[in-house]
Amino acid sequence: MTSYTLRNASPAKTKADVVIVGVTTGDKAPTAAAGGEDVSAAYARRFRPLLASIGFTGKAGETAKVPTSGAINAPVLVLVGLGDAKKLTPAVVRRAAGSAARSVSNAASVALALPADTPELIRAVTEGFLLGGYTFTDYKRDTRPESEKSSEIVVLSPIARQSEASAAFERAQLFVEALVNTRQWVNLPANDLNPPTFAEQVVAQHKELTKGKGAPKIGIQVWDENDLADDGCGGILAVGGGSATPPRMVKLTWDPAGATHHVALVGKGITYDSGGYTIKPAASMVSMKEDMAGAASVIQALFLIAKLNLPVKVTAWAPMAENMISGNAMRPGDILTMRGGTTVEMTNADAEGRLILADALVMAAEEKPDSIIDIATLTGAMVVALGEKVGGLMGTDDVVTDLMAAADVAGEAVWHMPLPDEMHERVRSSKVADLAQSDWVRWGGGLFAGAFLREFTDGLQWGHLDIAGPGYNTGGPHGHTPSGGTGFGVATLVEYVEGLTEAG
Ligand code: BES
Ligand code: MN
Ligand code: ZN
Repeated sequence: MTSYTLRNASPAKTKADVVIVGVTTGDKAPTAAAGGEDVSAAYARRFRPLLASIGFTGKAGETAKVPTSGAINAPVLVLVGLGDAKKLTPAVVRRAAGSAARSVSNAASVALALPADTPELIRAVTEGFLLGGYTFTDYKRDTRPESEKSSEIVVLSPIARQSEASAAFERAQLFVEALVNTRQWVNLPANDLNPPTFAEQVVAQHKELTKGKGAPKIGIQVWDENDLADDGCGGILAVGGGSATPPRMVKLTWDPAGATHHVALVGKGITYDSGGYTIKPAASMVSMKEDMAGAASVIQALFLIAKLNLPVKVTAWAPMAENMISGNAMRPGDILTMRGGTTVEMTNADAEGRLILADALVMAAEEKPDSIIDIATLTGAMVVALGEKVGGLMGTDDVVTDLMAAADVAGEAVWHMPLPDEMHERVRSSKVADLAQSDWVRWGGGLFAGAFLREFTDGLQWGHLDIAGPGYNTGGPHGHTPSGGTGFGVATLVEYVEGLTEAG
């Protein structure tokens, strides 16, 4: 078990295995950042020479581990670069705390002496450190026993005694839990996470969260393949048809007394995307266990919203299917009838996400929520447009504005993409059905997908977040982002819902 404490104390005098101090590049020479002044004072004139001797410049992301030889109480000092002192934002501190976490993996107790003199910075330090230390080791035989991991984490802050500070500290831990749960699901391989086992795990987590007195009340409903057929979900059934593990849909409902807004969250839950008969090139298939990141995000976002007791009604819809090949798989050229009766000419079995989302969006829209937000690892085209670290956002103006603001608070990078009229025409270009699922034109593929989804939102307020890039990190860890599942989007969704309570 790990204990977390927020305390106002001197980092130089704190007894811990490791003390973490930030360093900014400074005007002339690198300097200890806010929170770490006391450590540099304890070193007196030896601090700058120490930095110089190891070539530490303070640029963002730089880390160094140095023995203190009695200069301060802790035996080891971890230095982490924060870059330019004038550009010190919570996002910079969050990333730095994440980098620092990876250099203290064998310490039993850690004290963080990073800039933490506002609630926002306390949140950034805590989230960054806890998220940066995450690794997915469930399948490793030599996993380090839990007892060897840091068991005492102390965040030092001059405002530790203030209620806003402890609230920010608690809140950060809840956000971390939601992101870590999301990452765990995304990282589970598809041989262990398929639509039925995914749905079972949601049911199990729901049961755990809602048991006991005072626990949040959250409704849950699971559709199996027969229920989906009864309800006319032709998109989910077609996509899941080729798999030995049948599709599911999970709905969660948080409906607190006095709620004035209703937000529906819809997340893509493809537990594996082989591309179906439009099979993917071998190398592109390898990471496709990630294709349920949207579903994992909306479920964990709803759980977190309930834990935070936010006074907004929220429903989360998670359509789940595995996109495979067999005699029962959908064939390019098939005409599908979606929930609500719209027909779709399916021409690309690898554009499966929009098909399962369509049914779920229609179901969500039937309840006439005030807004619908969908989140999906939807298109490679969005990764081409924005790179691997930025999510693509589309939708109606007000929702886009609110989501951009929420992403900013959450520290997640999203960019507003257009839905030009041309896309509307392309989506309507099928000669044989109401809509074309794809037109095999590569240009603007992410926008086509957005325009296709819009057709199923019944003209309601709507936002669409394509996280094909940032939802999964195929490279090495950086900042608070690990390899594999990232949890990207969860914090933005929760901040969006919370923002509605402030708007009144
Ligand atoms: N799951 C993929 C999108 C994806 C690509 C996610 C890379 C994460 C990383 C999606 O189902 C897909 O295959 N999209 C196609 C759409 C196309 C066929 C219209 C794509 O991006 O090529
Ligand atoms: Mn696909
Ligand atoms: Zn996919």
